[in-house]
Amino acid sequence: MIGITWLGHSAFQFRLDSGEVLLLDPWLEGNPSYPPQHELSRVDAILVTHGHFDHIASAARTAQQFDAAVIANYEVCAYLKSKGVQKTSPMNKGGSQLCCGVRVFMTHALHSSGIEDDGGMIYGGEAAGFVLELPDRRTLYFAGDTDVFGDMELIHRLYRPELVFLPIGDLYTMGPRQAELACRLLKPRKIIPMHYGTFPPLVGRPEQLAERIKDLDAEVWALEPGKPVEW
Ligand code: NI
Ligand code: MN
Repeated sequence: MIGITWLGHSAFQFRLDSGEVLLLDPWLEGNPSYPPQHELSRVDAILVTHGHFDHIASAARTAQQFDAAVIANYEVCAYLKSKGVQKTSPMNKGGSQLCCGVRVFMTHALHSSGIEDDGGMIYGGEAAGFVLELPDRRTLYFAGDTDVFGDMELIHRLYRPELVFLPIGDLYTMGPRQAELACRLLKPRKIIPMHYGTFPPLVGRPEQLAERIKDLDAEVWALEPGKPVEW
């Protein structure tokens, strides 16, 4: 079992049975859909898919506050290290590492990863996604920011994720039309939509995806920011 709390946009908190807490793509301060009543009391590790501000903005501060380890690609880790993060654990696509009893695999994403800093743009490596294999062997896939890509079929073949987190907002990521195909390639049981509604242009909605995949044996699981669910 894990406790999943959507913190708005693409930020999620995962609470493991051990009590350990993972944060994914933390954008806390300044995130219009961050649940204001939510209190972070523990963070053991932070996973960052790419260097865009809406995924990395709170990574350095939160890592320092909780002495948490950051997992990201090599370039994003090097950047966060330069911002004072003590514990980084860089990786790249195809590789895996153990984090709080969870095996973390880095996967492909079809997106970019520049890091805005001091008025300039720093090379942030390539955008990625993560597959997490939980201690009970179930796997989930956190796509990060991406368009659909054919190799999502490989993610299904390699890891068989039952739960997938997909961006559906459109403009900077895929929208419901592309996410439909992602669901057909990934064959999950449940889909948690993310990266929508935060700003007016992120127009994709969970109901649109649900309508498109109603022939599949899969459920679109739209979370409410700040309201934990168990999986
Ligand atoms: Ni992005
Ligand atoms: Mn984004």
